[in-house]
Amino acid sequence: MNIRVARVVDLKVIDNSRQAVQWDEDLLRRYDVAGPRYTSYPTANLFHEEFGEEQYRHACAASNTQRRPLSLYFHLPFCATVCYYCACNKIVTANRERAREYLDLLKEEIRLQSALFENGRPVTQLHWGGGTPTFFSPAEMTELMHHTARHFRLLDADRGEYSIEIDPRTVEEGTIGLLRGLGFNRLSLGVQDFDPRVQKAVNRIQSVEQVRTVTEVARSFGFRSVSYDLIYGLPHQSVETFRETLDTVVALSPDRISVFNYAHLPARFKTQRQIDEAALPPAAEKVRILEQTISGLLKAGYVYIGMDHFAKPNDELAVAQRQGGLHRNFQGYSTHRGADLVGLGISSIGQVGNVYAQNAKAIPEYAEAIRSGHLPIERGIELSPDDLIRRQVITDIICQGSLRFADIEELFGVRVEHYFARELQQLVPFEVDGLVTTRPGRIDVTPKGRLLLRVICMVFDRYLQDAVRPAAFSRII
Ligand SMILES: C[S@@+](CC[C@H](N)C(=O)[O-])C[C@H]1O[C@@H](n2cnc3c(N)ncnc32)[C@H](O)[C@@H]1O
Ligand code: SF4
Repeated sequence: MNIRVARVVDLKVIDNSRQAVQWDEDLLRRYDVAGPRYTSYPTANLFHEEFGEEQYRHACAASNTQRRPLSLYFHLPFCATVCYYCACNKIVTANRERAREYLDLLKEEIRLQSALFENGRPVTQLHWGGGTPTFFSPAEMTELMHHTARHFRLLDADRGEYSIEIDPRTVEEGTIGLLRGLGFNRLSLGVQDFDPRVQKAVNRIQSVEQVRTVTEVARSFGFRSVSYDLIYGLPHQSVETFRETLDTVVALSPDRISVFNYAHLPARFKTQRQIDEAALPPAAEKVRILEQTISGLLKAGYVYIGMDHFAKPNDELAVAQRQGGLHRNFQGYSTHRGADLVGLGISSIGQVGNVYAQNAKAIPEYAEAIRSGHLPIERGIELSPDDLIRRQVITDIICQGSLRFADIEELFGVRVEHYFARELQQLVPFEVDGLVTTRPGRIDVTPKGRLLLRVICMVFDRYLQDAVRPAAFSRII
């Protein structure tokens, strides 16, 4: 017998039904298909090698006529030790010289890239991701930021959103002060889980004290926002152990929290083979951990932004969502709608006008291109007019939880009811199941549908309509 579990977890502080969540385990199970996270549309698996430097240069030149602001992403891939679960593009090494060599290449890429964009375009967003950006020495980090400032128009006085990923095990207090001085005003900490047994199983031992210290030091230096990354589905996790982690996290009171579903793909990420699969929590336990996480964070006063993200109601992300200004890119949700994203460093992805471009993933290929004076672009895609319309539809649903036909019609001059006749038909069962409501001129995701945003977006993904659903995507639960 199928027992329907439906509990409403409403957020008291926000008078906005779009930010309520309703837990329906039966629906979650039924709709738990593998699906993209839509940090881009078309998704990165559709990028191809016919796209290269020439097409990217063309898009950059065209973007200068629009003069949109810029968002810079730097990929700094080195880590001193490996966490077994890690699915990021990182290089584990004890050799600090490698950072020096990489920095020289990166500086040259900054010079090449900056020549493509007109001088005056302000950098409203900047992010150092990894890997572990603080693997670089304080002198190297200073050099990188100063070099960037020489080639791009960085904003002072905290007018930009400048963020960095920090591993709390390896950062010193002085470094946090230095980063603040370099202009960073947000940081995110890899926390994952506080349980000692879980930490041992994934080779990432870090104390509550380390996380607390970095959080407090960051606040004392005036960082505007501190964000934590957690992962559920790691070995030895249970509802009880994760409750303790959550209680500790809530007591430390970060401004934003990302709760990622552990993506276990040992065929692709070799170090994940170190993880004992028998110790992974079964699906039913993961569902309960997820439910506890969502209800616990909402009760603690966080807003559910969507997908894996939570934020305090006064955090810019939550404010932007209430005001309709939320955006989504490769770093997840962002408040910077309309910026062109420039990706720098290995494997980084740029999004300029109507193209996506991805750099070479490994250092030898990256270095070869840079040393011969070329941009290290390995693949990408130019969006068709249809891609552009669908990207906007997916962005509206995933960021705002609603689609107003008039917005799309105004931007693209199409009649949504005609253009998406097939998709609107496909949404009928979703409406019957209570995931969306439709009325003339708009679709709204319901509190039940908010945990299934990506399944709703998949209806509008042309590449999934035409193809067998790829197994490469992770599942929701
Ligand atoms: C580049 S890493 C974080 C920065 C820094 N290196 C650290 O570990 O503190 C970004 C985040 O991705 C998440 N992550 C990494 N591998 C993952 C996986 N296999 N499944 C789900 N999330 C993962 C982790 O939460 C991690 O903090
Ligand atoms: S989680 Fe962070 S520190 Fe650990 S291996 Fe991945 S990138 Fe490196």
